[in-house]
Amino acid sequence: MNIQGLTKRYQGRTVVDGVSFSIPKGKVTSLIGPNGAGKSTVMSMISRLIAQDEGLVELDGTHIGHWKSRELARRLAILTQSNNIQMKLTVRELVAFGRFPYSGSRITAEDAEIIDRAIAYMELEEFQDRFLDELSGGQRQRALIAMVIAQDTEYILLDEPTNNLDIYHATNLMKTVRRLCDELGKTVILVLHEINYAAFYSDYICAFKDGGIAKFGPVHEVITKENLSAIYGVEFEVQTVKGRPLSIYY
Ligand SMILES: Nc1ncnc2c1ncn2[C@@H]1O[C@H](COP(=O)(O)OP(=O)(O)O)[C@@H](O)[C@H]1O
Ligand SMILES: [Mg+2]
Repeated sequence: MNIQGLTKRYQGRTVVDGVSFSIPKGKVTSLIGPNGAGKSTVMSMISRLIAQDEGLVELDGTHIGHWKSRELARRLAILTQSNNIQMKLTVRELVAFGRFPYSGSRITAEDAEIIDRAIAYMELEEFQDRFLDELSGGQRQRALIAMVIAQDTEYILLDEPTNNLDIYHATNLMKTVRRLCDELGKTVILVLHEINYAAFYSDYICAFKDGGIAKFGPVHEVITKENLSAIYGVEFEVQTVKGRPLSIYY
């Protein structure tokens, strides 16, 4: 995915300012950076949920503006930051919803397998027949992630997916993201505030600041004491654990 000069303005205020970068295929790329830096706005523009004022997003050399909605839905699925499903659905029904761009309302045996796999990834087996409004916020969040995974698209975008998740389920999600990438060849794009999840489980980091990219590159090049201090304005220590960078702010 190639992003060139992406710009968004609201009421004359530029909130994303000429952002350009290429997201490597079959890798995990995490967007990090302060609140209001423009991460969600970029995620929404690269999935065509909102229109940019300038710039373009290319998927396999084709401007996404030229894709039919259904075609785009087959290629790319997104979990946005604010989700509020108000329908009386069970977990399984919600996850099955993720298959609709492919199958209409008819669930094939292959669909059922993909749904089962998504439910298993998010460890929702015992909740699959419960209604969403009977779940905790974290359980609902996991059901929404399972729905996005069930879309089985090449590109999977998750905006702050660890919101509401306890440390066990957040870690399970990050391991699932790695498997989606390493075993199924998916390209995963995340927005994360837990910098250590980004550092430990991503291949590439795109560090946002003030509507632009402060730094983009392989995780080891971006997660350094100097870069993190420059981006966040506070002193981090960076250590390496199991060959992966981890940062400590105290
Ligand atoms: N619909 C909107 N109308 C006006 N301003 C917006 C809108 N959406 C986002 N913004 C502003 O754009 C900036 C970037 O927001 P966002 O992309 O959500 O940041 P992040 O996800 O990095 O926290 C913020 O200052 C936010 O207030
Ligand atoms: Mg956001």
